Amino acid sequence: MKDILSELEDRREAARLGGGQKRIDAQHGRGKLTARERIELLLDEDSFEEFDMFVAHRCTDFGMEKQRPAGDGVVTGWGTINGRMVYVFSQDFTVFGGSLSETHAQKICKIMDMAIQNGAPVIGINDSGGARIQEGVASLAGYAEVFQRNIMASGVVPQISVIMGPCAGGAVYSPAMTDFIFMVKDTSYMFVTGPDVVKTVTNEVVTAEELGGASTHTKKSSVADGAFENDVEALAEVRRLVDFLPLNNREKPPVRPFFDETSRIEASLDTLVPENPNTPYDMKELITKLADEGDFYEIQEDFAKNIITGFVRLEGQTVGIVANQPMVLAGCLDIDSSRKAARFVRFCDCFEIPILTLVDVPGFLPGTSQEYGGVIKHGAKLLFAYGEATVPKVTVITRKAYGGAYDVMASKHLRGDFNYAWPTAEIAVMGAKGATEIIHRADLADAEKIAQHTQDYEDRFANPFVAAEKGFIDEVIQPKSTRKRVARAFASLRNKSLKNPWKKHDNIPL
Ligand code: HXC
Repeated sequence: MKDILSELEDRREAARLGGGQKRIDAQHGRGKLTARERIELLLDEDSFEEFDMFVAHRCTDFGMEKQRPAGDGVVTGWGTINGRMVYVFSQDFTVFGGSLSETHAQKICKIMDMAIQNGAPVIGINDSGGARIQEGVASLAGYAEVFQRNIMASGVVPQISVIMGPCAGGAVYSPAMTDFIFMVKDTSYMFVTGPDVVKTVTNEVVTAEELGGASTHTKKSSVADGAFENDVEALAEVRRLVDFLPLNNREKPPVRPFFDETSRIEASLDTLVPENPNTPYDMKELITKLADEGDFYEIQEDFAKNIITGFVRLEGQTVGIVANQPMVLAGCLDIDSSRKAARFVRFCDCFEIPILTLVDVPGFLPGTSQEYGGVIKHGAKLLFAYGEATVPKVTVITRKAYGGAYDVMASKHLRGDFNYAWPTAEIAVMGAKGATEIIHRADLADAEKIAQHTQDYEDRFANPFVAAEKGFIDEVIQPKSTRKRVARAFASLRNKSLKNPWKKHDNIPL
């Protein structure tokens, strides 16, 4: 018996070493942690339960039968984050470069199946050379099995990908189908074809970092949702994110203890909106002043900064924030901001996270680049996402809500539950100057008359009361009391029940 026990320990010890000390040292030398060290940091202490530690590949080509390391390049299992269950897989670059074989894929699929069945998030740590070259089509089949599970899990359990090394070729499509992608600066990259192929096909010379590093994907492509300095920071941020999310689509998001007065008055908000309607102000100030303890978890901070997305808590409950940012492009909607916000709204709706929309939007960005790029279809994504969402929706218009963008930004007409406006709100088809130039074209040569018409238009529409008279605004509120009003609104909506008509699925303008 003793021998068997010590054999088990020996086998475990060997499995834990992955590809061996030399490769572990090389991994550390690049500033990267090993697959197991990452899991340790991600999960609560001693909470990790491993599956399939002794699984080995079955390949017999290219002399592979002589190297069959236990675990086959991926560590899988489950554990907890602040006491709440998650499933995890972590690719081990020290074993065949973390490449994905048939059995490696089966290990990932096993925990994904369990996550879907048992209703807990899946966190995938990616550090892999892609398809295990020695296995050929068996490896491609393995990827497709993972892809299919990503699709089945979508909207059922949250899926988070952390890219901590290479992720190339078709391998990128598994993270791409998950809800959030985090990357580590300088040590991770994602691309469909690498720099060499790019050079051959398009003659462009580009480094891996330029082509698919964290900066590229958080600032330019929007493939990734956050970029962090190193493995430790990225994993700590995943823990923070998980705290905001429900475990699955049948559960409500967690309620945390909060140490902040619901009725906290923020006098400074009364002067947040400048006198001059063309002067910007920082919408993030409103967000942090609304949130419990000023805690805001931003998603896609570096992309389409004219719209802000992220999570806060109100009375301990998770709330998704979508807010126009007047500091960037005057807060207008365009292709990128519409796509960014639409995806976020749909995530919230999948997982029963109420949405707070803060509006200061002068309209859609004009121009040929927008029209040629399909702003009609992309703008419709956000409109569609808001309109189909059945979660509690509270909207506060702080200043401009012009034109189609007024309708899009969670207006009453898209089933907004509480639509508030500050006294500074201007709800109109367009700004007074533009409106005057169209409806009083005949007077354009007469500056005095135009000024009078503009003033008349402003008096009539540069306020929230026309909309409030019609019931499109439920209440005009004091800026300083916004936290209290919004928190009470969400509290009243906790048992909201709204269903869309039966359909197989909708056909959102993709
Ligand atoms: C088998 C692999 C491997 C792979 C790396 N290794 N990638 N083994 N299959 N795909 C092994 C190496 O042989 C090496 O083994 C060890 O992992 C570390 O690799 P190095 O090359 O020494 O590391 P590094 O210099 O850091 O380069 C990492 C790398 C490079 C950029 C990922 O290894 C690389 O280009 N690999 C091939 C990538 C690739 O073409 N993959 C297929 C893509 S197609 P030893 O024993 O020497 O330590 C694809 C399709 C998916 O993935 C389709 C899904 C639909």
